[in-house]
Amino acid sequence: MKRVRLAFTPTPIVHSAALDALVGAKVFVKRDDMTGGAEAGNKIRKLEYLVAEGQARSANVLLTCGAVQSNHARATAIVAARLGLRAILFLRTGEGPTSVETPAPKAALPTAGNALLDRLVGAEIRLVSAAEYATRDTFLEAEAERLRGRGERPYVIPEGGSNGLGALGYVQCAREVREQVDLGLVDGAKARAFAFDEVAVACGSGGTVAGLALGAPLARLAPRVRSVSVCDDAGYFRRVVGRIVHQARGYDDTLQAEAELCFDDAALGPRYGAMSDDQRAFLVRIARGTGLLLDPVYSGKALYAVHLAAKRGELSPESRVLFIHTGGLPGLLAEGAAFAGEL
Ligand SMILES: Cc1ncc(COP(=O)(O)O)c(C=O)c1O
Repeated sequence: MKRVRLAFTPTPIVHSAALDALVGAKVFVKRDDMTGGAEAGNKIRKLEYLVAEGQARSANVLLTCGAVQSNHARATAIVAARLGLRAILFLRTGEGPTSVETPAPKAALPTAGNALLDRLVGAEIRLVSAAEYATRDTFLEAEAERLRGRGERPYVIPEGGSNGLGALGYVQCAREVREQVDLGLVDGAKARAFAFDEVAVACGSGGTVAGLALGAPLARLAPRVRSVSVCDDAGYFRRVVGRIVHQARGYDDTLQAEAELCFDDAALGPRYGAMSDDQRAFLVRIARGTGLLLDPVYSGKALYAVHLAAKRGELSPESRVLFIHTGGLPGLLAEGAAFAGEL
């Protein structure tokens, strides 16, 4: 498949005794929070394939959607600016007036975190309500149709960049980890049939898990992928990931084997975007004990789920976990007030 190089790879894999002790298993952190500058995180690996398709279709404007502090929307906006394209972002909000058809008034837009970065790089933002957001595929296509009518060349990227094409970014990531293992860059991994016992990652829209589910057996990374739900539940994600896996095989029929998928709902917390007190305290413990900064919406909950699995005895201190740090730092910076009690 065509791929436009956007991410700075290979990203490092780091391991520290201090982190192992805090989590309760051997944790090898794949630093995909370092795939770039402000555009960094997991989304840019998916965009390498999606934007390549957009370019092949001569797109001049990228359309996508997400929560108001969406990391995916921010990565898309920055990539668009890098490539000289326009971006229109449909962002879900619980506050104020919304419209799928007109740009949000400046006064209604946040000036922090991902939304600040979206605005700095000049993305057009439409604020949409939760009810409108439920029809996202319809309004994205309607807007694309409207733009085509005006002679523009839109390319629609689904929520989270999560379709079969985007998922290929994480098949590629699995291949990258195999190369690092073969070069002897990961302690104790080279001689094993599988380099790790499991891969663990946050799941928000399913594309990253789908790519890893196909990449992990192919690259002999691990027999199992722990998919940590940050919204919705195991039943929902089983269906979504299954659909994306099926689509991805349509692009590459060598992607037959699939890792065992463990859909883990233990770290959902109070709701999407909000942490429990224990989760917040864990994030702060990791930051202070190891210097590793996790975000409260995705990577913080994902590592917390690994910690809970170790506490339940599902993982032992000797279990080898490849933890994908998917980024999200701007989201943390937008949530400073939630941490006031910990500082
Ligand atoms: C920082 C971060 N980590 C993990 C995820 C989850 O990835 P996916 O949407 O592919 O499930 C997202 C996006 O939803 C994200 O922004």
